[in-house]
Amino acid sequence: MRPIAKRMAQIPFSAIRTMLERVTKLEKAGADIIHLEVGSPDFDTPQHIKQACQQAINDGQVQYTSNYGIMPLREAISAKFSADNQLDYDPQNEIIVTNGVSQGIVATMLALLDPGDEVLIMAPIFPAYQSAAQMAGAATVTVPVYAKNDYQPQMGDLIAAKTQQTKMVVITTPGNPSGVVFNRQTLQHIADFAIDNDLLVISDEIYEKIIYDNCEHVSIGALPGMRERTITLNGFSKSHAMTGWRLGYIGGDAPLVDAIIRIHQNSVVCATTFAQWGGVAALEGTQQPTLAMVEECDRRRRLMIEQLQKIPQISFVRPQGAMYIFIDVTDAPLDAFELANALLEKVNIAVVPWDERHIRLSYGNSYENLEIAMKRMQDYFAGRSDGVRDLESQINPIKSKC
Ligand SMILES: Cc1ncc(COP(=O)(O)O)c(C=O)c1O
Repeated sequence: MRPIAKRMAQIPFSAIRTMLERVTKLEKAGADIIHLEVGSPDFDTPQHIKQACQQAINDGQVQYTSNYGIMPLREAISAKFSADNQLDYDPQNEIIVTNGVSQGIVATMLALLDPGDEVLIMAPIFPAYQSAAQMAGAATVTVPVYAKNDYQPQMGDLIAAKTQQTKMVVITTPGNPSGVVFNRQTLQHIADFAIDNDLLVISDEIYEKIIYDNCEHVSIGALPGMRERTITLNGFSKSHAMTGWRLGYIGGDAPLVDAIIRIHQNSVVCATTFAQWGGVAALEGTQQPTLAMVEECDRRRRLMIEQLQKIPQISFVRPQGAMYIFIDVTDAPLDAFELANALLEKVNIAVVPWDERHIRLSYGNSYENLEIAMKRMQDYFAGRSDGVRDLESQINPIKSKC
């Protein structure tokens, strides 16, 4: 018997989730671990958004909606695209409310890619893109981006990665895991490349609002000649601390959206009805909680930058967006996978090994916890930690039996 589809061999269980599951088990057994692995803001969803959702349930908003989403939310998204991104999408047929950006990625790739197509991804990148392309039978081709260029992709690397099969380019700005914000010149180069080679572009802008140092967020879909070839993905998970709501959205030219809606319709029908009313409140209500959250994220980012700079074995590019610091551990005695294990076991910090040379640290944790985590990391790299906080010694065996 061969019960599993062949393509599943190419689709790994997420390393981030693997680490989280391991850590959750250890915590259940009594270990005191500081989480730097998950990209989930540790903030609560703003009250007015929760109230709108509760009101929607009380008002009986509990049945299916249009496959595209409720019209008030599509109109609010259209207004947001226009005001923030200079993108003009018709709420009738150019916007889909999705179950988070994750589902938007899968629906877009299933709708727009054929087996044999190639998708250019600029690595390091959020891993869901690779898996979604595999689900569509397409292949991903990596365009490397380098710390020496502040993780801004270079035209020569794009050209080198392109083949006859290339159909799509994926960009994520601000980026996960690097925190890079693509500047206007980079985006213009990518746009020129896409137009010259008649390529589609997926632009994941989920971290748009989490941006620092007065950086400018530019939507590639708004550059001349890009509207008809760009799908813009965004959502509420990060900007409004709503990861558990599973709410995102897609904007794109009608013929592209017409294909995507048919995948969406046949897979999830619509985003959760009452969550969509929370989305309306998120876009139309006060943005003060988002501004306060970003200010706090920036305070944490600056703390981590300052403390990580004291560790000689690591290096990193100062992130300008998102909620991560991507550290290069080439000069450490262990590779990134061994190091992640050692940090967990010796100093009780959970991190994500991204590849052999890099680790992603998330600052979706309190300032106080980050202060402790940075101290523990400094201790570990200075060789002051062995046996001091050994995980096994903290696990209460009685608790672990319960
Ligand atoms: C770049 C990027 N895109 C998409 C997602 C998934 O977002 P959502 O919660 O809307 O599915 C994440 C989550 O970490 C992400 O980092």
